[in-house]
Amino acid sequence: MAGTIRSVLFVCLGNICRSPSAEAVFRKKAKEKGLLLKIDSAGTQGYHVGAPPDERSVSVGEARGYDFDGISCRKISKQDFHDFDILIAMDEMNLRGLQSECPEEYQDKIKLFMSFSGLEEEIIPDPYYGGKKGFEYVLDLIESSADGLIEHISALIVLED
Ligand code: 4NP
Repeated sequence: MAGTIRSVLFVCLGNICRSPSAEAVFRKKAKEKGLLLKIDSAGTQGYHVGAPPDERSVSVGEARGYDFDGISCRKISKQDFHDFDILIAMDEMNLRGLQSECPEEYQDKIKLFMSFSGLEEEIIPDPYYGGKKGFEYVLDLIESSADGLIEHISALIVLED
C-alpha cells in the first residue's frame, strides 16, 4: 500500500557520528518491535568513506546496548532516493543537501529526524568537534526520535491491515 515504510535511510554530514548511531539505535528498536525493515545510513559528504563509526559514538552507544558491528561510512547516492521509502536528515544542512540532490518525484521522502520526537528541539547537532557530553546528548535525541519513528511506521502498518 502506498505510504507504507519498509526501508529507512539515516543521513548526516560525515556518516561517522549521528547517522550510524541512528542506524544502530533504530535496528535495535525495530527488532524489539518485530518490524522487518531495511535500515542503513549515509553521509551527504564523503570525507570518511569506508571508515567505521567514530569511537566516541561507539563508546556511548555500546554503553546503552547498541551494536555498531558492520556499519561503515558511505556517501549518499542517487539510487538511494529510489531504493529507500524514507530518508531521515539529522539537521537542516543535511536536509538541504538531500533536497538538492533528490529527484522531484522523491522529495516527499525526505524528513527531519526530530520531527518524529515530540520534543521542542528541531535538529540533532553535529557532535564531531565537541566532547563526550555532546555525544550523550545526541544519543538522547536519537532515542526519542527513533521511538517516534517506530510509532509512525507501526501506525502505517496497522492502517494497511
Ligand atoms: P556526523 O559528524 O555528520 O554526525 O557524522 C561529522 C563527522 C565528520 C565531520 C563533520 C561532522 N568532518 O568534518 O569530518
